[in-house]
Amino acid sequence: MDHLMEKMQEAAMYITSRIGNEPVDIGMVLGSGLGGLADELEDAVAISYKDIPFFPVSTVFGHKGRLVAGNLEGKRVLCMQGRFHYYEGYGMDQVVFPIQVMHAMGIRQLLVTNAAGGVNTAYQPGDLMLITDHIKLIADSPMRGPNHEELGERFFDMTHAYDKKLCALAREEAKRLSIPLQEGVYMFFAGPSYETPAEVRSARILGADAVGMSTVPEAIAASQMRMKVLGISCITNMAAGILDQPLNHTEVMETSDRVKEAFTSLVRNVTRLWPV
Ligand code: HPA
Repeated sequence: MDHLMEKMQEAAMYITSRIGNEPVDIGMVLGSGLGGLADELEDAVAISYKDIPFFPVSTVFGHKGRLVAGNLEGKRVLCMQGRFHYYEGYGMDQVVFPIQVMHAMGIRQLLVTNAAGGVNTAYQPGDLMLITDHIKLIADSPMRGPNHEELGERFFDMTHAYDKKLCALAREEAKRLSIPLQEGVYMFFAGPSYETPAEVRSARILGADAVGMSTVPEAIAASQMRMKVLGISCITNMAAGILDQPLNHTEVMETSDRVKEAFTSLVRNVTRLWPV
């Protein structure tokens, strides 16, 4: 057993010692706007990231990062309330460590959510987008370096990185709830600057419908471990250059706040019907 496996096991054992042995059905990475969902869990136990062995240490002042375990719609879930972003300076290996720890705890289902900029001009700020695939042409792979055979293969398949059945479930539930749900390809950018208009035009030519600074590392790590992934973006703004106006973080926060209710409702209903 090498170092990473030991670290994963130790972190997993610590979390289990805090939340108990009952198996977790779904891991959830809650992005901008959806973090509040973790406060709605029943019988919740929260663990600060700083207390978990080997979890990346936040250097950002006032950063609220914690895991919250509890029940949601009859499922046992473990939520990341706040994630680690590459732009914060973490290595890709650190960004995905929590996902590997979830796997070590026996979790095989993952929901990832985020805020993203709309590249597809048919989208509007406030739309939700089912992630059907992704593009990552820049930055390291989280799996760069010696391979850990215990986690998965060296060269692993990404054809079904976003699970087809979970996509179908999300589509059906969105329709039933009358929540408009776009679907498309999410393209990873390293940030923290927003993209330039030229980068956004190139993203569109390459086949992207949305751009963002998260999710893709987690989805790659989950794919290696054969976890089933459902990804949903909140289109908080049109990406740079699409509308003739500058981007700002306030707009991102305001839109995610506005969409929070619909996003939460979709996630709750998908969770209720999620096959585990
Ligand atoms: N670009 C990258 N990340 C984002 C954006 C964007 O326009 N909006 C929210 N997150």
